[in-house]
Amino acid sequence: MVNKVELVANGIKVSELVQGYYRMTDWEVDRQSLLSFIKAHMDLGITSIDHAHVYGDPACEEVFGNALKLQPSLRQDMQLITKFGIIQAQHTQSVTAHYNSDNASIMASVDSSLKRLQTDYIDILLMHRPDLLMDADEVADTFKTLQKQGKVRHFGVSNFTVAQFELLQSRLEQPLVTNQIEINPVNLESLEDGTLEQAQRLRARPMAWSLMAGGRMFKENTDKNFRLRTVLTEVMDEINAQSMDQVVYAWVRKLPAKPVAIIGSGKIDRVQSAVDSLAFNMTHEQWYRIWVASKGHGVA
Ligand SMILES: NC(=O)c1ccc[n+]([C@@H]2O[C@H](COP(=O)([O-])OP(=O)(O)OC[C@H]3O[C@@H](n4cnc5c(N)ncnc54)[C@H](OP(=O)(O)O)[C@@H]3O)[C@@H](O)[C@H]2O)c1
Repeated sequence: MVNKVELVANGIKVSELVQGYYRMTDWEVDRQSLLSFIKAHMDLGITSIDHAHVYGDPACEEVFGNALKLQPSLRQDMQLITKFGIIQAQHTQSVTAHYNSDNASIMASVDSSLKRLQTDYIDILLMHRPDLLMDADEVADTFKTLQKQGKVRHFGVSNFTVAQFELLQSRLEQPLVTNQIEINPVNLESLEDGTLEQAQRLRARPMAWSLMAGGRMFKENTDKNFRLRTVLTEVMDEINAQSMDQVVYAWVRKLPAKPVAIIGSGKIDRVQSAVDSLAFNMTHEQWYRIWVASKGHGVA
């Protein structure tokens, strides 16, 4: 059973693994099967659910909300995470996709998410991508209004640099609960740009997305992916894991910023495998062997 953890001290608790719904429209499931999937991962203790306003066509939030309507009592036991800030060109008057974090845009996005998800509150609202035109005072005022209206309980960001995080945080009375960022052995950027050090310093657990690099780590035959698959298989045997995925979960979990992993698969056996991975640990040497395979060179 997956435990609940605090993202920040005395803050909201989420399940130590979060179920992502970005790829839900690829799963080709009907309303009843989707409800069964939601119940199955909640039975495993995965009660935190990651959406975004822009996921899917038809909108994942709406498809999910329709499934939830079949059993509304589930809502009280789940933590719904969704995001705002990306304005797609399709479905809007926009010529080009862009970011917008002004008051009207955030309020409209939240109202739309609430309606689609068929709920009257969002547990955690994230700014999906940094908006170069972000007015931190305006965002902070909007967050305050949303909280006062009871529409959103907690706020965070996603894909923010250290400077962007600090700017927004400086205008808020309560802590941003997370920075949701890409972490996987293929893309080491967040291990090198100070994001994870900031998270550790603030004791604000990041949420990690695309642990399997969107599946490309297993499917694409680049030199880096070959090296990674070779070492992941070696470590899998050494720690008695059942799959390379489990090694990747353990590799991300070893980071001292304590990332909370978001599962990308809609297959319950892969979700179960992620849960089982919580029992696996690796040594520093094994962790670095995977890092070396990614880099293509050893430590200095
Ligand atoms: N904040 C952001 O900007 C952001 C960006 C991206 C994602 N996210 C969040 O993070 C969640 C997870 O991201 P993700 O979907 O990119 O995660 P991911 O785990 O990197 O990718 C999931 C994909 O990889 C495939 N896969 C997993 N294990 C595999 C294996 N052993 N062999 C072959 N294919 C495998 C899955 O296929 P199957 O479905 O067949 O298992 C699925 O298509 C999303 O749902 C979303 O909630 C956030």
